[in-house]
Amino acid sequence: MAAERAPPAAGAQRRATPGAYRPQLRVSEMGRVVAIGDGIVWVEGLPSAAMDEILRFGDGSEALVFHLGSRRIGAILLSQKDGLVAGASAHLTGRRLDIGVGDDFLGRVVDPLGRPLDGRPAPLPHRRRALETASPPIIARDFVVRPLLTGNRMVDTMIPIGRGQRQLIIGDAGTGKSSLALDAVIAQKGGDVLCVYVLISQKRSAVVATVETLRRAGVLDISCVVVAEATTTPGLKFLAPFAGCTLAEEWMWGGRDVLVVYDDLTTHARAYRELSLLLRRPPGREAYPGDVFYLHSRLLERSTCLAAHYGGGSMTALPIVETEQGEIAAYIPTNLISITDGQVYLDPALFSRGVLPAIDITRSVSRIGGKAQLPAIKAEAGRMKLDFLQFLELEVFTRFGSRLEAGVEAKIRRGRLLRELLKQERLAPLGPEQQLAWLVAYNEGFFDACAGPQVQRRLAWLLARAASAGPGLSAGREAWCACIEAWGAEAGDEPPA
Ligand SMILES: Nc1ncnc2c1ncn2[C@@H]1O[C@H](COP(=O)(O)OP(=O)(O)O)[C@@H](O)[C@H]1O
Ligand SMILES: [Mg+2]
Repeated sequence: MAAERAPPAAGAQRRATPGAYRPQLRVSEMGRVVAIGDGIVWVEGLPSAAMDEILRFGDGSEALVFHLGSRRIGAILLSQKDGLVAGASAHLTGRRLDIGVGDDFLGRVVDPLGRPLDGRPAPLPHRRRALETASPPIIARDFVVRPLLTGNRMVDTMIPIGRGQRQLIIGDAGTGKSSLALDAVIAQKGGDVLCVYVLISQKRSAVVATVETLRRAGVLDISCVVVAEATTTPGLKFLAPFAGCTLAEEWMWGGRDVLVVYDDLTTHARAYRELSLLLRRPPGREAYPGDVFYLHSRLLERSTCLAAHYGGGSMTALPIVETEQGEIAAYIPTNLISITDGQVYLDPALFSRGVLPAIDITRSVSRIGGKAQLPAIKAEAGRMKLDFLQFLELEVFTRFGSRLEAGVEAKIRRGRLLRELLKQERLAPLGPEQQLAWLVAYNEGFFDACAGPQVQRRLAWLLARAASAGPGLSAGREAWCACIEAWGAEAGDEPPA
């Protein structure tokens, strides 16, 4: 008490002299852990805690404030040491959750807090970025006008995607959603786009397979994989897509183009529901908390194309959502359809008939990508798409077994040929020259005389030539036609077996 009454000036002087200890008063709140379980901590006695603030416990464990009750607060465990038991002390840190970001994260597999999972030393962050930030303001945004090529024969021609677009991949389990997204990442090899692949709640074997696929395709060096495995806490699963987005944001604001895959947001919504129910928030439709729409919209609003004045970077998002028995009108799928700029719908019926990739073109749409499509490809693809849509309508009549007009029959024959041409193996993305080559060849009737397996052989042979010996994207239609004809004549118009 005597020390407190001493005048401040004298106190400051005395502090400088060693041995003259002067006690001071520091006020801080100390809470107490009431309960722990399922990755959640309940704490009492921290009345000034704020949402999204980090709590630190006596043993060094940390948690993120997620729910403010009148007496207790609920927090998501971020790291758990052995000493965390009921009764342990808890302090407020005043910090928000952030993770390290930067180029050192390329080629790495990390958890949602940026900790390495690939057995190598922790990546050296260029700086730290808050996990939750506001999306770029409207002034900082620009129109989507540059293409993001996925290498997929149907997507790049009929459902084109632009840099900065959010394109949903939707379909039942096992219809090839992840394969399509992986191919889009692999197509960025040798280009200027960086990739972030977020895996939410997948088995370890699936995670290892994905990372191995990226490594073998030679694109792991331009990618960062963020993983919240199936066995981790719902809290980390909930944070995973935001961590991926934060890593991508650093590159976007640095003027780079980034592609982010969220695989998948159905499991993310489930993790969020689990978390909310554990924290005893009131459940809404399908037991999801009321703000699940806001959760996904604030994540996807952060993907955009920045204006030149702000560096001109972009973040393209490919969120994946899983439907049950093709039910796209369920809660989470409809939410995501309304948040994104289009969707690629994968149909289980097509998949079981062996039409791969199983993209149902009549239910897929890209609302803004058309402006970003390469002009040469756009001109050729328009004619092809018309043929294909007409064919799908006419094909219905063939089921009745009735006799058809000769004109209709020709259209159906050509449509079947086109469906054969649109089939594509996994891990074989096409370059833009190859896309143009097959489109021109189809429109010019180069495949019309082929039947059965001959189609695929002739196509493979054409694509191999186009990759190395094509006249270039800006060469014009005539140059391409001449080239394709010359290749045909060279091979005696008979593709090699
Ligand atoms: N274009 C394709 N060609 C051949 N097989 C494919 C193709 N796309 C997907 N598959 C196969 O379909 C299965 C399911 O694919 P996956 O991408 O895991 O589906 P989802 O992510 O929708 O559950 C995998 O075994 C994959 O190899
Ligand atoms: Mg999948």
